[in-house]
Amino acid sequence: MPDSMSDEDIVRDLDRRWNDVYVRNDRSPFSEILADDLRATWPDGRSEVAKSKMMEPTPGRRVEFSERGFELHGATAVTRGRIRVEHPEGPHEQRFVRVYAKRQGRWQAVSVHVFPLDALNGGTNPSGSMGSLAKHSVRIETDRLCLTCPTPAQIDDYYASIVGSNMFDTILWDGPAGPEDLHAFWDPDKRDPGRMDLDLDLAVIEKASDRYIGGVSVRPVGGDPAILDLGYALAPAWQGQGFATEALAALVRHAFEQRSAERIFATIFVGNRTSKRLVERLGFQHEGTLRRVVRKRGVWMDEWLYAITRPAWEASES
Ligand SMILES: CC(C)(COP(=O)(O)OP(=O)(O)OC[C@H]1O[C@@H](n2cnc3c(N)ncnc32)[C@H](O)[C@@H]1OP(=O)(O)O)[C@@H](O)C(=O)NCCC(=O)NCCS
Repeated sequence: MPDSMSDEDIVRDLDRRWNDVYVRNDRSPFSEILADDLRATWPDGRSEVAKSKMMEPTPGRRVEFSERGFELHGATAVTRGRIRVEHPEGPHEQRFVRVYAKRQGRWQAVSVHVFPLDALNGGTNPSGSMGSLAKHSVRIETDRLCLTCPTPAQIDDYYASIVGSNMFDTILWDGPAGPEDLHAFWDPDKRDPGRMDLDLDLAVIEKASDRYIGGVSVRPVGGDPAILDLGYALAPAWQGQGFATEALAALVRHAFEQRSAERIFATIFVGNRTSKRLVERLGFQHEGTLRRVVRKRGVWMDEWLYAITRPAWEASES
């Protein structure tokens, strides 16, 4: 490497060579590019020291890189990009963030974080470009439901189905003051599902009718994606048919598999037995009762605390 190369040139060169590893399907340059203690965070949220794993040969695939980003902060550099990999079952797209550090005068990659665009956007986008809705929405499918961002027409229909109902008696939120509140809530410019530290709110859409029938959410506590607060509500006409169970089972799976969750909890007003039965069906355990913990319409309320942890969820899966 010529002495005259700037730090920026060196890191950009390492980053290009990293891309070439995949283009040429030759892992050997990784011995130099990656630090021995490089830590990788994979799309399923797992984090590990990964150099030896990354050096293992894998089948050659056609790859394309796009969306470059570069930042230099003293002895640390961050690059960002997007990779599209052709697989026999269709293309996969991922976004990645690579961190390089200069240690004892030598630049090497010290960590990489990979995010699945496919999972975030409900499948690959054949054009390779992201429309504004795709950019801001997650799509989770179950037999009868799709969890995603609703259309304006679905929002209006949903508002009509919940206005004046008792649906908000058992949750902290008193409901939208008008349809405009709901439209503002779903404003795609305020959402970024790629950010694991932000709330993920999803409308429950019944596939058969294409109607928006309820809402579910996971909200990181203090911006930590490992600890998620689960929220849910169905419009009254759709309760008692298993839709909430179906939606939340899929959302809990998504949170553990795609969003690094370690613990998902729900707080339920004491006495809300339908909600208690629901979380128990999902494998949540009662951890205690929080006394006079929230105020609803001026009244202090007790709440049951229910939670499921990653080990418990993994045990239930095996
Ligand atoms: C909490 C809430 C989402 C639960 O809704 P729900 O309709 O009881 O839940 P599901 O959609 O999973 O339906 C399950 C019920 O349908 C029945 N059911 C009918 N068909 C079913 C099917 N195909 N699969 C599963 N369950 C089915 C179940 O037996 C169960 O009834 P049960 O609780 O009397 O045993 C709903 O009461 C609600 O939105 N309440 C207002 C907001 C709220 O309180 N949110 C929770 C805050 S903590």
